[in-house]
Amino acid sequence: MARQRMLLFPEGFLWGTASSSYQCEGGNTNNQWYRWEQQGHIRSGDRCAEAVNWWKRAESDFALAEQMGNNALRLSLEWSRIEPTEGCWDNEVFDRYRTMLTDLRNRHIKPIVTLHHFTEPLWFADLGGFAHEDNLRFFVRYVTHAIQGLKDLCDFWITINEPNVYAVQAYVLGLYPPGEHNLVRALHVLRNLMQAHVEAFYAICDLQPEAQIGYCLDYRLFDPTNALSPLDRSGARLHETFFSWATLQAGETGRFTFPLNMLIAPIAHAAGARDYHGVNYYTREMVHFDPTMPSEMFGRRFKLAGSVYNDPGLDNDYGEIYPPGLYRVLKSVYQRTRGNKPLYITENGFSDAFDDRRPRAILEHLAMVHRAIGDGIPVQGYLHWSLVDNFEWTDGWGVRFGLIEVDPLTQERIARRSAGLFGAICRANAITEAIVECYAPGAMDVVFS
Ligand code: BGC
Repeated sequence: MARQRMLLFPEGFLWGTASSSYQCEGGNTNNQWYRWEQQGHIRSGDRCAEAVNWWKRAESDFALAEQMGNNALRLSLEWSRIEPTEGCWDNEVFDRYRTMLTDLRNRHIKPIVTLHHFTEPLWFADLGGFAHEDNLRFFVRYVTHAIQGLKDLCDFWITINEPNVYAVQAYVLGLYPPGEHNLVRALHVLRNLMQAHVEAFYAICDLQPEAQIGYCLDYRLFDPTNALSPLDRSGARLHETFFSWATLQAGETGRFTFPLNMLIAPIAHAAGARDYHGVNYYTREMVHFDPTMPSEMFGRRFKLAGSVYNDPGLDNDYGEIYPPGLYRVLKSVYQRTRGNKPLYITENGFSDAFDDRRPRAILEHLAMVHRAIGDGIPVQGYLHWSLVDNFEWTDGWGVRFGLIEVDPLTQERIARRSAGLFGAICRANAITEAIVECYAPGAMDVVFS
């Protein structure tokens, strides 16, 4: 009998899912996102409300992660619960997080904890949030408290989720609070978030020298609509540099690339201030040069005929499902950082309510991760976004990223086929022919090419 082909992952590879406090916990009424919703900024009219109720029942979802053979799970702490008013700390909140992290550890699931995932307390937002450098001390003080309270249960920290997305969505596109359209302020916020990471990094190093500490960026690729057109090519390069690579470089060297460095101060003590690179990857966009669109950096975005797409939301278009992009991003992060640190895929996922594209997408993206590892790129873990459907920011309940479906009204969970697939891969630490055959036979050639 012919031997089955398989893509085996390295021993100790971390397999898990990622999520955030606001999107999952429920009952968060003390941060700027709650206020944003009350002000009517969610077009569908959806409310986060009880979310998926993790504040009360996260453990039953952790059990589902355990059944999937996951050995890691990323969640975030809600700063607005921990420090509801400036300088006051809620110990009961720490108790709840301690129970959650203990439960994960009892299930042999490594907790990966994000300290800031888009939300912050109202009092901090009202002081101007990350737009003011002066406010960074509040963030670092909160981080210090959090580490002191939880360091016996967690040694893997993500300081800040996607500074680039936060800056663009909140200060350029106006889709996240405070809803501004101010490029210069966006750049300052981006710089301050990166500075906040550096300061948090050193604070955590002092308290927990053995911890692994990093931040994650969303890496979005931009390709020219016409690869032969120099204008399309430079438009795509400009978008990609601005969105993805400028922040990575600034994180590495402290300096933003020209011309951003004319507008933004350097990041002090940035060099070396991370133990790994957190890579979030979702999509790529096609760009066509258009002189009538200066506000879009002269690039019109295009959909490629024949490509497979995520479900769109009312506010965000989740874009193309483009597996080779994950390989390209991993390689580029590795090369641009001269291979100086391990890489973790801290988010990758698909909005696909009917789960008819996700199984194949998971397989083809993981085949790219395997290829990257085979090329010597030290990728040490993969966290799928997300374990269960959750509140997708401005798109509310309108798009579904979960391996497991949730009805937010009844809180009922129904595992999608993708959960079966992901579980099979995690348990085997491999993609086998039998797994592909069972879940997405159409992916066979791509996976084993
Ligand atoms: C964010 C998540 C979000 C996901 C899907 C990521 O950029 O970190 O909070 O749910 O994308 O849109």
